[in-house]
Amino acid sequence: MQTSNALDPQSPQARAIYDLAIPLTIIFALIFVIVTGAIIYAILRFRGRAGEPDPKQIPGNRNVEIAWTIIPFLIVILLLAMTISAMNRADPPPAPSPDLVVTGHQFWWQADYPASGVITANEIHIPTGKPLSVRLESKDVLHEFWVPELTRKMTNVPGQPNHIWLQADKPGTYIGQCSEFCGTQHAWMRILVVADEPSKFEEWQRAQLQPGQAATSDATAKGLVLFQTSTCINCHAIRGVTGADLRVAPDLTHVGSRKQLGAGILENTPANMRLWLKSPQHIKPGALMPDFNFTDEQLDQLAEYLSTLQ
Ligand code: CUA
Repeated sequence: MQTSNALDPQSPQARAIYDLAIPLTIIFALIFVIVTGAIIYAILRFRGRAGEPDPKQIPGNRNVEIAWTIIPFLIVILLLAMTISAMNRADPPPAPSPDLVVTGHQFWWQADYPASGVITANEIHIPTGKPLSVRLESKDVLHEFWVPELTRKMTNVPGQPNHIWLQADKPGTYIGQCSEFCGTQHAWMRILVVADEPSKFEEWQRAQLQPGQAATSDATAKGLVLFQTSTCINCHAIRGVTGADLRVAPDLTHVGSRKQLGAGILENTPANMRLWLKSPQHIKPGALMPDFNFTDEQLDQLAEYLSTLQ
């Protein structure tokens, strides 16, 4: 399974944080070594020995006191300057309107692209080389958006939007993770950021704007009817399907095109789709999708239909 690495920055914003973290770690390590070294030296060199007279008492030393005030002051000023510079690079003020709105839900992410109207879940596509102004929201509790290779962490707060910049230097897939405990399935709130060349991103965006694939066979037609007549339709949207416009749960218009199911818990294959529909509470206990006790035949039809939604 692909993992993420905070020490391998792949965007100017993540690099700004990395470029701050490494020198700070070195400075702190040096201070630690100098201070503990001096303490250990003093303990060994000046400890009391039997029969020795008391050491000479020193009431104060102006030069030493000035030095140990000014040196830490200069170090703190240096840290402040480095931090402000990193903040300016990693976290400039938001754009007037966001390129992307990412909303945390128990236990998945919704991604809205306001300019184009694309709505998707858990898998966020971005064009390479372009900083995206991202507004972070939450529908229920605190979540935290973090894609270590691309951007800083930021909390999704209900009713109080936050902001980050999201960018990738080169094409690739980057893993993110909810990093604020938000309930039983906090650990399975993965974010997949897919960075594509701008032309390929445009292509993806055009495909996402298409309505859901119409039923192509007898089985998929039955799957669609099941979707409409079971309670699926009360939570999930499929553009182009009458009545399926509620987005309490992930938009399924192009669910078949995504790489993963259940916010990262399963690879998206027709067999896993069937497994998920059979018993979401077995695969992801505490997820808000209930078990429906579909028959084997119904599972085949529904899984086949959903997998065709490319
Ligand atoms: Cu969402 Cu932790």
